[in-house]
Amino acid sequence: MPVISFANAKGGAGKTTAALLLATEVAERGKTVTIFDADPQRWISNWSELPGRHPNIVVQSELSPATITEQVLEAAQERDYVIIDLEGTENLMVANAISVSDLVVVPIQGSSMDARGGAKILRLIRKLEEIVRHDIRHCVVLTRTNAAVTTRALKAVQDHLSTSGIDVLLTPIIERAAYRDMFEFGGGLATLDPRQVTNLDKARENAALFAAEVLERVQTRQARRWYDWFKKAS
Ligand SMILES: Nc1ncnc2c1ncn2[C@@H]1O[C@H](COP(=O)(O)OP(=O)(O)OP(=O)(O)O)[C@@H](O)[C@H]1O
Ligand SMILES: [Mg+2]
Repeated sequence: MPVISFANAKGGAGKTTAALLLATEVAERGKTVTIFDADPQRWISNWSELPGRHPNIVVQSELSPATITEQVLEAAQERDYVIIDLEGTENLMVANAISVSDLVVVPIQGSSMDARGGAKILRLIRKLEEIVRHDIRHCVVLTRTNAAVTTRALKAVQDHLSTSGIDVLLTPIIERAAYRDMFEFGGGLATLDPRQVTNLDKARENAALFAAEVLERVQTRQARRWYDWFKKAS
């Protein structure tokens, strides 16, 4: 089933956080998910050793650039979703993972508007599209945005990216303590204690909207594949 990777050549853009948010949201909805931890810092592998990991989530960290495509495609046959957390650089592992993805999500820090790393990955996606000879669907998610930022300011950033033909999620991932706490205490937003985590309800709402937008994109992608197949077959 769908393979979704998180990529941005710039470090600290929020790839690992966004990948884990999506994985935990999907697992809470009763779906099975394998996360490929291709980040040498192994944040997700370390998280999986903490208590509270949903039984629907499996973390795979034994990877190599030579085997990743096969491993991902194999997992995609068995699991409802495959999520890949990539390193903040541009290398063979990143290129191979992107080439077998149904959707590449590029997290870009909304507040700093530092889109250089993101632009690098967008260029890499274009190059890979020529090599693999099919479109690689991708979108940008603005991350770590200030909860107090006006929707108008955010809209301006989104419009700027959209006019360059980039698909930008309407939901930015807000800067929230809850997102850091998952890595400290384990589990997902559903298992964190609202008495100990500030604004947990707002974080849950934000994460659910983010996940819904991502899933909508892979579902339409799959629907299109079926449509293309049907058209060819008929
Ligand atoms: N929305 C957020 N709210 C609060 N903290 C966040 C958020 N997004 C990221 N962070 C924090 O910022 C730091 C970098 O985030 P993260 O590890 O997700 O980025 P990354 O793109 O995976 O980085 P790298 O390139 O090093 O792999 C981490 O300490 C993380 O906890
Ligand atoms: Mg990371």
